Amino acid sequence: MADLKFEVTRNPNPKPDAEREEIIKAPVFGANLTDHQVVVVWEKDKGWHSAQVIPYGPILMDPSAAVLHYGQEIFEGIKAYRHQDGSIWTFRPEANAKRLQKSAHRMALPELPTEIFIESLRQLIAVDGAWVPEPVDEKTLYIRPFEIAAENFLGVRAAHRAEFRVIASPVGPYFTGGLKPVSIWIALDSARAGKHGTGEAKTGGNYAASLLAQNEGYENGCSQVMFLDAETSTYIEELGGMNLFFVYKDGHVATPSLDGTILRGITRDSVVQLIKDRGLKIEERKITLDEVKSGITAGEIVEVFACGTAAVITPIGEFKSREGTIGFADAKPGELTSSLRAELTGIQYGTVADRHGWMHKLAD
Ligand code: PLP
Ligand code: COI
Repeated sequence: MADLKFEVTRNPNPKPDAEREEIIKAPVFGANLTDHQVVVVWEKDKGWHSAQVIPYGPILMDPSAAVLHYGQEIFEGIKAYRHQDGSIWTFRPEANAKRLQKSAHRMALPELPTEIFIESLRQLIAVDGAWVPEPVDEKTLYIRPFEIAAENFLGVRAAHRAEFRVIASPVGPYFTGGLKPVSIWIALDSARAGKHGTGEAKTGGNYAASLLAQNEGYENGCSQVMFLDAETSTYIEELGGMNLFFVYKDGHVATPSLDGTILRGITRDSVVQLIKDRGLKIEERKITLDEVKSGITAGEIVEVFACGTAAVITPIGEFKSREGTIGFADAKPGELTSSLRAELTGIQYGTVADRHGWMHKLAD
């Protein structure tokens, strides 16, 4: 299985160089896709087989395909970074491979071996490397590996056929304002995930569950939604697509603990490590909404930031809900937020020493 060979079919009509260059100069998150995609098929009686790189294009799918009805789907998000010498790297791909396996387990999908996951990234970059932007203004190639139940059958059970695919899109900053602190809407009337549910899996349904509150957030000038625990609406969990950190006046930092309902963010894990490396105290614990509201108001909490592959490290300026607004008077990103962000992106772009061995070369 680990020696699965990839068959490569080049796109006969790739985007012309000039058009591609135009796109990667000012990329919009997720709006343009590269020229190729990876496909690997799994069947219950055959395991993983038929690994291919093929031209980017639509999936021909039977209307009875299980994923369309029962949402058996998982995905990952990982980026490719171009370094100054032109080489192309990615960040902690084993961690994404492991998380995809955990998500697969939860959603009763087959677990893709780590070597196939990493080889699929290498294969895509081998044909689409020209799509990785120059290392300026937070530009990268966002890679979206995903797995779907691809059996044509309406019975409700784990599918006997699945497909793993990888697509990629050149991106700039996730939030259009760049490093400007964002406004967050607090979901008081809807939850994203409950105890023993699928919150820890990176599965489409969690995101679908977040969109009603996100629409409410947009209507109120917010760019993301913060979810609370489903049981008591007391504890802070995470944003629709990012983890959260709170910086206190005395210099310590806190982030919600991983209790099974939130995503085990790879950026979160890396930020925890970078904070430890600085000798600062980091607490992974339950954090109540009340603590955050009173902490910001009293000046005990001095910075809040969100983090994730897409968002990198994004400062938060205020929290809004139907009960009111609490925020920071200063419209600038906080000091620790900015310096962690500079350190993390420096490691990713190869300008800061990679002392934890997080970077993985995909192409020279
Ligand atoms: N939480 C959710 C719900 C997410 O979708 C993401 C993004 O992937 C994260 C947190 C951050 O995870 P990571 O840092 O691994 O991208
Ligand atoms: C990512 O950061 O990879 C995500 O999946 C989050 C989403 C907001 C794009």
